[in-house]
Amino acid sequence: MCGIVGYLGNSNTKEILLNGLKELEYRGYDSAGIAILDNGAFYSNKAIGKLHNLEEKTEAFNSKGFSLGIGHTRWATHGKPTEQNAHPHYGTDTYIVHNGIIENYQELKSELEKGGVRFNSQTDTEVFVHLFEFYQKSLGNYEAFQKTLKRVEGAYAILLITKNSETIYFAKEGSPLMLGLKDDEKFFASSDAAVLGLCNDVHFFEDGEFGYVDAKGFHIESSESKDIAFQHASLADDKISAQKEGYRFFMEKEIYEQSDVLADTLRGRVLDSGISLQELDGEFLDGINEIKLCACGTSYNSALVSSYLLERQAKVRCSVEIASEFRYKEPLLLKDTLFVVISQSGETADTLEALKMAKKAGLKTLAICNVDNSSIVRLADKSILTRAGVEKGVASTKAFATQVAVLWMFTLFIAQQKSTLTKDELKQELKTLRAIPKAAIVKDELHEKVKRLSKRYLHGHGFFFIGRDLFYPLALEGALKLKEISYLHAEGYPSGEMKHGPIALADPELFTIALLSENILFEKTKSNMEELGARDSTMCCVSSHFYDKADDFIKLTKYDHYMLEFYEMMVATQLLSMEIAVRLENDVDMPRNLAKSVTVE
Ligand code: M6R
Repeated sequence: MCGIVGYLGNSNTKEILLNGLKELEYRGYDSAGIAILDNGAFYSNKAIGKLHNLEEKTEAFNSKGFSLGIGHTRWATHGKPTEQNAHPHYGTDTYIVHNGIIENYQELKSELEKGGVRFNSQTDTEVFVHLFEFYQKSLGNYEAFQKTLKRVEGAYAILLITKNSETIYFAKEGSPLMLGLKDDEKFFASSDAAVLGLCNDVHFFEDGEFGYVDAKGFHIESSESKDIAFQHASLADDKISAQKEGYRFFMEKEIYEQSDVLADTLRGRVLDSGISLQELDGEFLDGINEIKLCACGTSYNSALVSSYLLERQAKVRCSVEIASEFRYKEPLLLKDTLFVVISQSGETADTLEALKMAKKAGLKTLAICNVDNSSIVRLADKSILTRAGVEKGVASTKAFATQVAVLWMFTLFIAQQKSTLTKDELKQELKTLRAIPKAAIVKDELHEKVKRLSKRYLHGHGFFFIGRDLFYPLALEGALKLKEISYLHAEGYPSGEMKHGPIALADPELFTIALLSENILFEKTKSNMEELGARDSTMCCVSSHFYDKADDFIKLTKYDHYMLEFYEMMVATQLLSMEIAVRLENDVDMPRNLAKSVTVE
């Protein structure tokens, strides 16, 4: 959830920390802070709200020559978003930044309080720093650090600095952390975005690794090995594409980018002869009779879309699980099931834990993910990258578009292996697949229309997004987008289900966004819309077929395949959410209470 950075070297430590935090701000942004050890003295500052508040507060400070520091941008889990609860947390002469949750902190806190320690914050993190200082009284720094690690339970990526040593101590368990090297400089970050362009020789820590860096070098170990080798992984330079490029928001840029990134997603994978997924070559899918898809949020919605495709086209039994539910339901896991996790970030804690459970049960696992080297990619047996590029808007757009594309390719890959489609049918699907980048282009007239009509949809008591078949998960995704950035209540529903209760809410103040496909269950969906219209719900119809009973109509291109309709409708619903949020003057890219990457349970 939070973002952490660290630096040791001769450059301007404050600038490096603040620039790194700026890149990570999308992960959590209710407060931020830094601590720098400069010539034996600490400088530390924190500010609530966005990073520019911290930038203003630290304007007067600059380190000279060699120094080291740590920084943090927070998404509150324990304790309100106040300055006291912001990181770095401190003891007498020690500062720490932490991403994750220390689960046994209450127990440790009581123990420390009994010994006379006074706490400055309500966070779980602070116990670490006091416990460290307690052990430091009788042990060396590194021994005290290790002893503290043994006492804490939960998930963490931790950086700690203490006054009597020009060293950064680190540990990783369940939350992402990496170390980058360039000449004599050392960089830490919870995600590579913070260090792109600064270093290109990195080590992605595995769970259980810990150690320290100082001016002389670094040391990495774990309980299994006293000397872990540096991985020397390299980073792609993606910085330029991560800028806004003239769009008002990252979300807008990312909606407009979808056509291009979809082309990247398909590149080299959709051939005239069929789908080529080298990642799955060989015998990987042999013996698989069922597919279980597991994810959270938007990624869950894309999984649901693919469940329709997998059963329809590949004739494979398929179920979809919300990761946070799956973890605790004591699921029945059979060895002939392929377990597929879907995640943009590859760091979502619930999805990662679900993956661990499936692996433990001996299932074959596949990750569909946007971030190479992420925890989920590293853990799964196989992975297919979605190639969406850096997604900065908290509300996912291009990640969803590319996930659906990969899942559809995956479906066709199985269909061709099992011959569940005829040659002609497969050819037709491949042709349609190649056409999705075009269907996802944002047309000026569509954007203008949505912009204009969005003003009607700012008030009222709620929204229903409705659709049938795989337009139902698209309705779920449309409602999720709207909720996230407009803060208006919205639900996605299967059109046919409205009459079983929700229609009781219908009146002119209830807004229905109807996703009316001309290719799938057209008449049935139309009847459901009429039922709502008869009860005076204000309705916006999104379709290629003119529906004269709607209050508003968003006209789409006429296609002969539902997946092309799907992609254009997806764009229309994304634009609608964004334009409503703009009119409400909300922060489109960093909506309240959210974080880009949810690395806590
Ligand atoms: O990184 P992941 O795809 O695993 O993230 C899962 C959800 O947290 C994420 O999709 C969330 O719902 C987005 N904010 C949706 O826009």
